[in-house]
Amino acid sequence: MSTQTTGTIAVFGATGQQGGAVVDALLDHKARVRALVRNPQSDRAQALAARGVELAVIRADDPASLAAALATVEGFYFMTPEANSLEEVEAEIRIGTALVDAAVEAGVPHVVFNSVFGADRESGVPHHDSKHWIEEHLRKSGLRAVMVRPTAFMENFASVMAPSLEHGEIVLRLPLPEDVALKMISVRDVGRVAAALLLDTAEAPSGAVELVGDELTGPQIAAAFGARAGLPARYEALPLSVLPNDLDKAMFRQFAEAAEDPSDLAVVRSIEPATLDLVEWIRATGWTAPTNVAGS
Ligand SMILES: NC(=O)c1ccc[n+]([C@@H]2O[C@H](COP(=O)([O-])OP(=O)(O)OC[C@H]3O[C@@H](n4cnc5c(N)ncnc54)[C@H](OP(=O)(O)O)[C@@H]3O)[C@@H](O)[C@H]2O)c1
Repeated sequence: MSTQTTGTIAVFGATGQQGGAVVDALLDHKARVRALVRNPQSDRAQALAARGVELAVIRADDPASLAAALATVEGFYFMTPEANSLEEVEAEIRIGTALVDAAVEAGVPHVVFNSVFGADRESGVPHHDSKHWIEEHLRKSGLRAVMVRPTAFMENFASVMAPSLEHGEIVLRLPLPEDVALKMISVRDVGRVAAALLLDTAEAPSGAVELVGDELTGPQIAAAFGARAGLPARYEALPLSVLPNDLDKAMFRQFAEAAEDPSDLAVVRSIEPATLDLVEWIRATGWTAPTNVAGS
């Protein structure tokens, strides 16, 4: 693949899921990548270096280190770390704000912020409103910027939202009513869309792209996994009270409300034609039925 970019693209979060996918896509385009890392000796940082990624050591609370790492780059991608408490939400806002300010200081020509679906407005979900505020800060900064706003990661079905195998049946349980469609995207496609915007091979005339690769109800998701496993499948809607913290409760409440929001899957596919739907993600990841057979 070719790229229109000759300069370096800086990536914050490159050792993580989304930033890692952005690096993968940028390297596929033969772009030069500089990863902003706090620990250059970590296995993940070293794996990036082994693939030709330049490592710039930063501390999120050290503005000079951030501005130095962003010097002379042509584009800058950043995400903000997961927050599971209000304290972590505050830290997320501090990091996002510091990264925007450093990009201004360094005069970065083009920024892509990895926000979240619905962050165009306040939603009452603390770790989504944090991204709304970072978006606002970025918008006011005067930088040329695009927001990518992912919905729930399909990868959650391989971890925190994994279906189980019980008595020869695939069972999916989520704190979501069964008639509500969950909007979702693969992390791979978050990376591909962000990279296309960074490399200017795609445009977002509205200044933001809502990242949706599929939207399915709980029973439809369960059926997709059941079909892959060749087993019957069932969905059980759980109450919000099963969730460990108030942030997640607010988020799942908002998932149900956001089901009414229109999703423009065509916009994402116009940027990344191979955007995975859930069935394709299940196939692409080689998902197989879990072995934790409960009670049988
Ligand atoms: N899960 C979902 O379905 C979903 C959907 C939409 C949006 N989101 C949002 O996505 C974000 C998480 O993205 P992800 O899953 O890609 O994250 P991740 O895999 O946990 O990676 C986090 C990255 O941030 C870096 N990092 C964390 N704290 C740092 C600090 N203080 N200084 C420097 N680097 C730091 C980590 O570096 P180290 O390697 O040094 O730790 C790592 O590279 C959250 O904001 C979440 O709200 C999640």
